[in-house]
Amino acid sequence: MNRLDASAIRRPLSDYTNNNLDALELFDEIASTNSYLLSQPAPAAGRCRVAIADHQTSGRGRHNRQWISHPGDALCLSQAYTFAKTPRDLSALTLALGVGVVGALQGLGVSGVRLKWPNDIVALDGKLGGILTEVQSGQGDGVTVVAGIGLNIYVRDSADFGAESDWAHGPVGLNSVTDEIPTVELLAGTVIENLCAILSGFEVSGLDAFREAWQRHDWLLGREVIVDTTDQQIRGMAAGIDVDGALLVDTPGGLTRVVSGSIVLADATGPLT
Ligand code: BTN
Repeated sequence: MNRLDASAIRRPLSDYTNNNLDALELFDEIASTNSYLLSQPAPAAGRCRVAIADHQTSGRGRHNRQWISHPGDALCLSQAYTFAKTPRDLSALTLALGVGVVGALQGLGVSGVRLKWPNDIVALDGKLGGILTEVQSGQGDGVTVVAGIGLNIYVRDSADFGAESDWAHGPVGLNSVTDEIPTVELLAGTVIENLCAILSGFEVSGLDAFREAWQRHDWLLGREVIVDTTDQQIRGMAAGIDVDGALLVDTPGGLTRVVSGSIVLADATGPLT
């Protein structure tokens, strides 16, 4: 028997989501749910396919980092979705999905969760989770994406997370944020429900529909940051996101757009990303 309970995961799902879910696959252990879905057939347009693992042995994060979690201590969920037509602002999809994850947590009574551009989920100034969005395939005008969500439920000993967890304040678990820790199944079902809504909304309106909400949860807003891009370092005040999801940084030379890079707080004692 599987350690994860499929019927409990499906319980929070609306009829719409249930009907659009081609597969819900559960694993006690797998290398990476993102890698798994990337190797599977893409769902049909407008439909989803979800893989969840109790434990990943080679969980992956942004910039080829490891995503480390321990059995039963984290949500490791990937959701594949096929857009019939490649949406505008596809590179900003991770931002919209972040809004969905915060919404899921709020729906479960977990408040105080913020977003750090572009893909981190933050609580108590530490890393609660992250999102890894990858393109699986494109056919004609369409595209299939795999969105991987990692959320720490229990962090018992942050030293245990190794060198890949390089936030100044270490990783944070929901166990430090709320007394009402949801089961992994309830968390998974609520996240799937929210991601489905975000994916279909993004298909229609791109980032427009989510930009304002993202800015409400922006952890960097008004903080002095150092941005490392491949060819330069930028220092200034984080000033929200542009219409296409680029990070805006207010520098002595004017407002600068950042489309990719690593961000650290200028006053941090250690690297934050
Ligand atoms: C990051 O913080 O850089 C992103 C972390 C994403 C981790 C999730 S866990 C489920 C899915 N499978 C993976 O291998 N990675 C994502």
